[in-house]
Amino acid sequence: MNLKQKYGNTALIAGASEGIGAAYATRFAAEGIDLVLIARRLQPLEQLADLLRKKYGIYVKCISCDLSAINATRLVEDALNGLEINLLVYNAALSYIGLFLKNSVEDHTRAAQLNMITPLNMVRLYGEKMTIRGKGAVVLMTSLAGFQGSGYLAVYAATKAFNRILAESLWYEWKNSGVDIIACCAGATATPGYKNSHPEKTGFFTPRLLDPEEVADECLKKLGKQPSFITGRGNRLASFIMQKIMPRKMAVNIMGDTTRKMYRL
Ligand SMILES: NC(=O)c1ccc[n+]([C@@H]2O[C@H](COP(=O)([O-])OP(=O)(O)OC[C@H]3O[C@@H](n4cnc5c(N)ncnc54)[C@H](OP(=O)(O)O)[C@@H]3O)[C@@H](O)[C@H]2O)c1
Repeated sequence: MNLKQKYGNTALIAGASEGIGAAYATRFAAEGIDLVLIARRLQPLEQLADLLRKKYGIYVKCISCDLSAINATRLVEDALNGLEINLLVYNAALSYIGLFLKNSVEDHTRAAQLNMITPLNMVRLYGEKMTIRGKGAVVLMTSLAGFQGSGYLAVYAATKAFNRILAESLWYEWKNSGVDIIACCAGATATPGYKNSHPEKTGFFTPRLLDPEEVADECLKKLGKQPSFITGRGNRLASFIMQKIMPRKMAVNIMGDTTRKMYRL
């Protein structure tokens, strides 16, 4: 059974114009799934939408919305105008790299809103409709940074931990409902967002960069089979060593030291 037969006709991707979000969009389009694409900038969204409409003959709706706004979920729901959502991928995220105290409380609140509260609201809204219909799927993008304290990424890492625990908890609650949910725990991925942060390679705990398409493909293969997963073998190995073999203190130190070196902090 393909994704469309299993989950339904329409996927909403929050943070869709580039990188991993665009990879999910392309993957769904190739299966004939209609799309709702969300990001702040409309032009890159429309470019991707045009390409996918022409190549796959699907319906694509683009919504320009700042998902860090308090009322983002309501704005999106209004723009959908009753359109049913069968697959939800929450991909957008904000990460401040640097000391926690260098950013204002407003900055941190914006990150918490975008990375945590809007996905929570969307999962609550669309997840309920999916469970009532008895089918649907949700992907929450999260990160290896959320597996332990991550100095210089404190708020980002904490919000990513929230998403993993939320997805795993709902996987348990929904496992007999027909709705699949998964936390996709990504390591470094060659997205424009990642490349624009100008990281430096620092050794073993800086794993191989994955392509966004590899991340989306792997996630959709694991969807329905497990509550969460780590992208890529190198990331799984590094994570196994850090989570299962090292003392927690050592893992936290390695994470902070690696980020400090990567970003010359
Ligand atoms: N890339 C990595 O190395 C990596 C590693 C681990 C985990 N992840 C996770 O993977 C996900 C995707 O990361 P990414 O690097 O591909 O891209 P990203 O920079 O997080 O975001 C890419 C997409 O999200 C949209 N977006 C960003 N802020 C938004 C906002 N406030 N409102 C609406 N849309 C917004 C962007 O379009 P606009 O700018 O036009 O809004 C773009 O379409 C994130 O959840 C991240 O935590 C990534």
